[in-house]
Amino acid sequence: MGDLTLDGKVAIITGSSRGIGEGLAVEFARRGAKVVVTYTSESSSAKADNVLSRLADYKYGRSAIKVQADLRTLEGPSQAVAATLKAFPDDGITILVNNAGCEVQKRLSEATAEDLQYVYDLNVRGTMLMTQAVLPHLRRPGRIINIGSVGARAGFPGYSLYSSSKAAMEGFTRCWAAELGVDGHTVNCVNPGPVDTDMIYQINPTIVEAQKKSTPVEQRLATVDDIAQICAFLAEERSRSFKTTNRNLTVLLERRTQTRVERNHRRLSEMTPEGEHAVKNFKRKRSDHDVESD
Ligand SMILES: NC(=O)c1ccc[n+]([C@@H]2O[C@H](COP(=O)([O-])OP(=O)(O)OC[C@H]3O[C@@H](n4cnc5c(N)ncnc54)[C@H](OP(=O)(O)O)[C@@H]3O)[C@@H](O)[C@H]2O)c1
Repeated sequence: MGDLTLDGKVAIITGSSRGIGEGLAVEFARRGAKVVVTYTSESSSAKADNVLSRLADYKYGRSAIKVQADLRTLEGPSQAVAATLKAFPDDGITILVNNAGCEVQKRLSEATAEDLQYVYDLNVRGTMLMTQAVLPHLRRPGRIINIGSVGARAGFPGYSLYSSSKAAMEGFTRCWAAELGVDGHTVNCVNPGPVDTDMIYQINPTIVEAQKKSTPVEQRLATVDDIAQICAFLAEERSRSFKTTNRNLTVLLERRTQTRVERNHRRLSEMTPEGEHAVKNFKRKRSDHDVESD
């Protein structure tokens, strides 16, 4: 059965009916977590059942649940959390992986406001609302893991909506690490390159091939297990040192922007979707982006 390094911890993994999320669900269950599998499409109900059956051999695998919730809606995140608390009333929530995500491939000349909303409502607003919904129940040492993308720091033609949404997730990560770190929680962002899932087959193959060629080791697509191993480590108690690194850098970044964000600046626990939009629209000068890799 292996080391139960997540023994009995409740872990919500959004978008875990397939792809990276499915790999996370399996690895977290293997390490002893009580896993919540979320998905949105009716057609993925059977896939979520299949994930649950893959978990059944592990210590708490049979107690894992699936929750259908559209995280693009305002209600979806609280529905997912309510179902979690109902299934595990005495355990709180220790781990949240904001993994559910989507992309739209359109150049600036073609992209519409609806396209922006489609991507941002899930990747950005959904991540914030999901984390807010978990916050009152977050059990120390809490672990928030945001699944970003190498696109957050790259310039791929046709991917500005996706890439900018993932850059927003990095910004969330730094600020939340500063806010929640004082309570003993960590917040990290994992930025995968191309991973062998359904999503990769929607990406322009030229970009995927270029990414593979620029990967020094083995020049291949990542597997979901490559990502799962990193995320599972970040979910464990022994990843605590990541908090120190993140907090120092995050506090620095926050200090540099705080005075200029002024009235728009709110703590995560107080923020409304309108406030989040206001902060996102705040134009930072280039110097504010200088604090880079955590
Ligand atoms: N694959 C890559 O190459 C790659 C690279 C870098 C980063 N990432 C990031 O990794 C994450 C997972 O990617 P993936 O490749 O595993 O994606 P995927 O195979 O397309 O799976 C997406 C998952 O998200 C769920 N989802 C989609 N829309 C949702 C919504 N509105 N509400 C709740 N759940 C929703 C899906 O549920 P249904 O099954 O119900 O649709 C599914 O479980 C994403 O954030 C993605 O941006 C992926």
